[in-house]
Amino acid sequence: MNVFQAIQERREITKYSDQLIPDDKLKKVEDAGYYAPTGNNLPSKHIVVVKDRVTLDKLSETTPYMKWLKEAPAAIAVTGNPTVSKYWLQDASIACAFIWLEAVEVGIGSAFGAVYHSEDEEESIKRENHVRALLNLPEEQRVVAVLGLGYPKENPKPKNHIPREEVVSYEKFS
Ligand SMILES: Cc1cc2nc3c(=O)[nH]c(=O)nc-3n(C[C@H](O)[C@H](O)[C@H](O)COP(=O)(O)O)c2cc1C
Repeated sequence: MNVFQAIQERREITKYSDQLIPDDKLKKVEDAGYYAPTGNNLPSKHIVVVKDRVTLDKLSETTPYMKWLKEAPAAIAVTGNPTVSKYWLQDASIACAFIWLEAVEVGIGSAFGAVYHSEDEEESIKRENHVRALLNLPEEQRVVAVLGLGYPKENPKPKNHIPREEVVSYEKFS
């Protein structure tokens, strides 16, 4: 599979089978996050891989929008450290994207659970603290997302993409 195929085939997968993810496949997904670029090449990101069932169940309660973690056999939390780089949010987001795409390549479905809440600082702290406590994260680590991982139980319906001309323009915005 080439990169463009992975980009085209990628979907959010929120229903998982009982099949466990082999370590070599999970390692490739982890490494995709590890090798992702960072602004100024600064080490602002961290990824925490979780396979413990109790922790995954508790992580599913981080926000109302990641209940699918209760079925997932694994998850990767992606965090960023603003004291290391002003690009912490971009660094962590790019790592999330690489993780998601590598999951496609190795046949694993992934879902994106947003944790950091840019509009409501109080809610963000509450959600992030929930993850911090479970994963032993230092205070300065901001929790960008928790990605659920697992073999898809079913394939999602085909996706209706936003019309291309609404998203892509040439030379000037139009
Ligand atoms: C920044 C961002 C935040 C997201 N947050 C959530 C979330 O909290 N919970 C969830 O189930 N899906 C979340 N998603 C997944 C999107 O809802 C999903 O990717 C989108 O509906 C498009 O579907 P597709 O991934 O199958 O193309 C998020 C995706 C992105 C990129």
